[in-house]
Amino acid sequence: MQTDHFVRFESVTDVERTDTGLLARVHGERLRIDVCRADVVRVQLSRGGVFDEQPTFAVCVDPLQATRAGDVPFRVDTGTGTESTTGGRQWRVVTDELEVRLGVAPFRVDVLRTDGSVVLQSVLGDDGRYETYRTLNDSWSTRRSRGRGDGVFGLGEKGGVFDRAGRDFTMWNTDVLNGPATEQFRAGLAADDPRADVTSTEFDPYYVTIPFFYHQSNPSGAMSGSFVDNGHRGHYDFSRSDDIRIGFEGGQWTEYVFAGPDMPGILEAYTWLTGRAGLPPLWALGYHQCRWHAYTQDEVEQLGARHREAGFPVDALWLDIDYMDGYRVFTWDEQRFPDPAGMLERLDAQGLKVISIVDPGVKHDPGYAVYDDGLERDVFCRTEGGDVYIGQVWPGDTVFPDFATEAARSWWGELNARHVESGLAGIWNDMNEPATGVIPPERMRFEHGRVSHERFHNQYALLMAMGTVEGLQAARPDLRTFVLSRSGFAGIQRYAANWMGDNQARWDHLALAVTMGSGLGVSGQPFVGADIGGFQGDSNAELFLRWMQLGALTPFCRNHSETDNVEQYAWAFGTRVFDLAREAVQLRYRLMPYLYSAFVRASETGEPVQRPLAFDHQYDPAAVAVDDQFLLGRDLLVAPVILPGETARQVYLPEGHWYDWHTGEVHEGGRYVIAPTPMERIPLFARAGAVVPMWPTAPASTAGYQPETIELHVFEPVVPGRHESVVVEDDGLTVASATGARLTTTVTVTCVEGAVEVGVDVVTTGDGYAEHRRQGFDVVRHRPA
Ligand code: GLC
Repeated sequence: MQTDHFVRFESVTDVERTDTGLLARVHGERLRIDVCRADVVRVQLSRGGVFDEQPTFAVCVDPLQATRAGDVPFRVDTGTGTESTTGGRQWRVVTDELEVRLGVAPFRVDVLRTDGSVVLQSVLGDDGRYETYRTLNDSWSTRRSRGRGDGVFGLGEKGGVFDRAGRDFTMWNTDVLNGPATEQFRAGLAADDPRADVTSTEFDPYYVTIPFFYHQSNPSGAMSGSFVDNGHRGHYDFSRSDDIRIGFEGGQWTEYVFAGPDMPGILEAYTWLTGRAGLPPLWALGYHQCRWHAYTQDEVEQLGARHREAGFPVDALWLDIDYMDGYRVFTWDEQRFPDPAGMLERLDAQGLKVISIVDPGVKHDPGYAVYDDGLERDVFCRTEGGDVYIGQVWPGDTVFPDFATEAARSWWGELNARHVESGLAGIWNDMNEPATGVIPPERMRFEHGRVSHERFHNQYALLMAMGTVEGLQAARPDLRTFVLSRSGFAGIQRYAANWMGDNQARWDHLALAVTMGSGLGVSGQPFVGADIGGFQGDSNAELFLRWMQLGALTPFCRNHSETDNVEQYAWAFGTRVFDLAREAVQLRYRLMPYLYSAFVRASETGEPVQRPLAFDHQYDPAAVAVDDQFLLGRDLLVAPVILPGETARQVYLPEGHWYDWHTGEVHEGGRYVIAPTPMERIPLFARAGAVVPMWPTAPASTAGYQPETIELHVFEPVVPGRHESVVVEDDGLTVASATGARLTTTVTVTCVEGAVEVGVDVVTTGDGYAEHRRQGFDVVRHRPA
C-alpha cells in the first residue's frame, strides 16, 4: 500500500480514564483503549470524531460487557511523573495479564505481558519518527516492530507456505479464476512472479478475508494476536524483516490485541469475539460426491445407487448450477427434475442427503418470481444514482440482494426455507465474493445505494450465510444447519463451512490444501476442505487416490470437479484405485466418533479440527516449520503424499511418542522419521496416551447408524503421565445435544512409574438421547512392541 503522503498522528492530548480504559484526543480524533479481558485489549480511533460501533458483523459479543460490569480488574496509571523511553509522557492500562502503554508525544502504543515480554511494539519509520497511525483520504496505516526470524501465521485463506513472514497480502474477496476480477492483482507483476498466475499456489487474494494473524517472537516462541475489525480492502505487509505494516483503504482502526503467549489461548479469545462453529449434522462429516454436471433426476438417483452397490460410503450428493431453470435461483429445471421431492425422498431412504447450490445473483428477468418479488420489496443492491446494480454471472444479467439490510437477509432466509421444503438437506453458497463477471463490482452499493461497495464487499458472503442460516433455523428449528460457502469474512464459522474454491487438479494444489486448510483452522474456521481430486483440469489415477487419502482425513471431505473434465467418481480410475479410495473413506467413517468429538471441541473452544503442528507445538521450531503435515484433532498426525511417484516420505514427529497407525511401531518424537508410502496408504500416526474412539465398522452412511459398541483405541503411553480424551455421542442431527441430550465419555489413561499396567478409566455422563443403542465400549490396547 502506497503511504507516501499519509498524514501522521504524532501527539495525544486530553487523556482521561473511562470505566473500560482510556479515552484521549489525537489530532482532532478520539482514541480509545479498552480492556475486553485480562488478555485482550482493543484500540480504536475515530473518524470525523465519531466511533463506528459496529464496523463489521464479525464480532458477535459485547466485548466490553465484563469490563463494564467490573469483572475484569485493571488499573490506569495517571501518567504523572511516568516517562517513556523516548522522553514523552505515557499512560498505562494494566490488567492481570498485560499492560498497554500509550505514549503521548510521540504517539505510540505498546503492549507488554506482565513478565515484560513484548506483545506489540511501535516502531520508528525510515525517517526516525513513529508510524503508529497515518491517514489520507479514508485510508489509514499502522506499523509495528518485528524481530528477525519472527513468524507470522493466520490471515485465513492464504496461499503459499504456512508462515506468512516475508510476503505481503491483500484482503479482498476474489473470484480467483475470473480474469477481469484478478487483473488488478496481477497487473505490474513480472511474468515470472508466481502471483501473476491465478493458478499458482501463491496467488493472492483468495475468496475469504480474515484480518486476524499471530506474530511469533523469535527465539522465545511466544505468540501474540491481532484482529483488525475492518471489512474494507486491507493490506498486510510482512515482507520486511523488521516491521509489520497494516493498512486499510477505509473504515476505522479498530484492533483487538491478544496477549497470548499460546496459540490455543489466542484462538480461544478470537473465537470468543467472532463466534464458533455450531455442531455440524453428522452426515456433513461423511463423504460428499459433487460434480459440475447437467444431471437428470434419474442420473442422480443412479449415482447414489452405484455408490451403494459398490459399497462406497457416501452421505451426500450435490447439485451444481444445472439443476436450475436457466440458472434462476430457487427454481428447478422441470425437464430434468420432474419430481425433486420424490427423488429426495427416495435418496433419503437410502441415507443420502442432497445439497443444492444457491448463488446470490438473481437473474434480471421480469416475470421471474424471485426477481419481481425482490424488486417490489426493494431488496436489491443499487448504484449511487439509484439504479438496481447489474453484473454478469451464470444467468447473464444478474442483480444482487442487498444483504447489508435486515430486510434482504430475512427475504433470502425465507426463500431458502421454502427451497428446502422439497427435502434438500443443506445449501451451497458460491460466487459470493460477490463475483460479478466482466462487470466491476464497485458500483454495487448497499443500504439502498447509500453505502459504498467497499464497506460490505468482504462481508457479503458472511451476511448471505447469516440470512440463509436464520431462514433455515426458523423453518426447521430442531435441526442443525449445513451451509457451505466459498467466500467469507471473520465470523463466517458461525454460519458456514468453507471449501477452498476452484483449485487445480495438480500436485501443488493438493499440497496447498494442507497449508490453506491449516491457515483457515487457526483463523477460526474449523470446517474446511478442498475439492478432492482437483476442480479445474483432468485428474488422474495417482493424484486422485492420493487426494482421496488426504481428503478422507480433512474436516470437510468432498469430491468435486469442473464441467467437461474427465470423470472423477470413485470408480473412474479403475478397480485398484477404487478399492484403495474406498479403504481411505472407510477409515474416515470408522474414525467418525473421533472426528465428531473434535468438532464438538471446536464448537466449544474454537480449537481447529485440521491444525498445523504449530498449534500444539509452538515452542518447537522444527514443528512450526512443517508445511506438509497436520494434526487431525489433537492426537492424529497426518502426513499426506504430496508428490507423484513417492514411495516414502519424511515425517516430523513432535515431542512425545507416536504410534505408526499402520504398523503399530512406536517412535520417539522430536525427530524426523522416514515413513513408507505405498499406494495403499498415507502415513498416519497416533499420539501415545491418546484414546481414539472408532466405530467398529464403516457404514454406508451415517444415517441411522447406531452401533452397539464403540471401540476405544488406547495408545498406551511409554513414559509416566496422565492423558485425558473425550468422546461425545448425540443424535448427530438435532439441536437437543446443546441442551444436554448427549453422552460425554472421559477416558483417562494413566501410566505410573513401575506399575504393571497402564490404567484406563472410562466415565460417561449426560442425559443421553432416544436413538442411542450402544451397550458398551470395546477397549483396544495398543502397546509398544
Ligand atoms: C464456481 C464454483 C464451483 C462450481 C462452479 C459452477 O466455479 O467454485 O465449485 O462448480 O462455479 O457452479
